[in-house]
Amino acid sequence: MDKIKKAKLLKNLYYQKWIGYQYIDPINIENNHKNISLPNSLEKLKEIVKNCHLCDLSKTRKNVVFGEGNPHAKLMFIGEGPGATEDEMGRPFVGRAGQLLTKMIENVLEIKREDVYIANIVKCRPPNNRVPTEEEAKTCMPYLIKQIEIINPKILVALGSTSYRYLTNDTTPISKIRGEIVKYKDKILIPTYHPSFLLRNPSKKKEAYLDLLKIKSLL
Ligand code: URA
Repeated sequence: MDKIKKAKLLKNLYYQKWIGYQYIDPINIENNHKNISLPNSLEKLKEIVKNCHLCDLSKTRKNVVFGEGNPHAKLMFIGEGPGATEDEMGRPFVGRAGQLLTKMIENVLEIKREDVYIANIVKCRPPNNRVPTEEEAKTCMPYLIKQIEIINPKILVALGSTSYRYLTNDTTPISKIRGEIVKYKDKILIPTYHPSFLLRNPSKKKEAYLDLLKIKSLL
């Protein structure tokens, strides 16, 4: 059995256990991906994610960073994965990059941070802030997809190339695709630079500013 199948099977079993099953009939592994259902409530989903051990990131995390914000937000930001400060605090974008993201939201979009929703592709910190592997991203992705489904925002903002690539499978460089309106299921997805990249490359802030103005006009 490959690792993705194993992870999906385990996810299903954890879920069944969480909803109270102590015994279940044998599962058909081949069709198992069709059976996985996650709850339609953010609180219940958070409980499951907090107890997730489906990939190796769970071994080194201090806290799961589920995401936070308005559960009815029209606008949802999606980063790559928690950094050291986020791992310590169990909250997304609370370090230096987070402070910049908060300024982008509050000063340019003129929305309170609490009124948007902020999440990540992976919910646990990759050691040394490395990019999440494809396997880690694929394992964690159903949680994000469910969050998006529950929150049902109008606009998704992919922060940086990793977030954009894992959301869309499109490998166009972020410098080319940023600010474009991309279709994501029934939603609008707008990729822009990651705040950490902007901290390292302040000359790119102008482009990110233009992307934010576009987002503002679409809201
Ligand atoms: N970078 C991210 O991609 N996500 C966070 O939550 C923090 C920093």
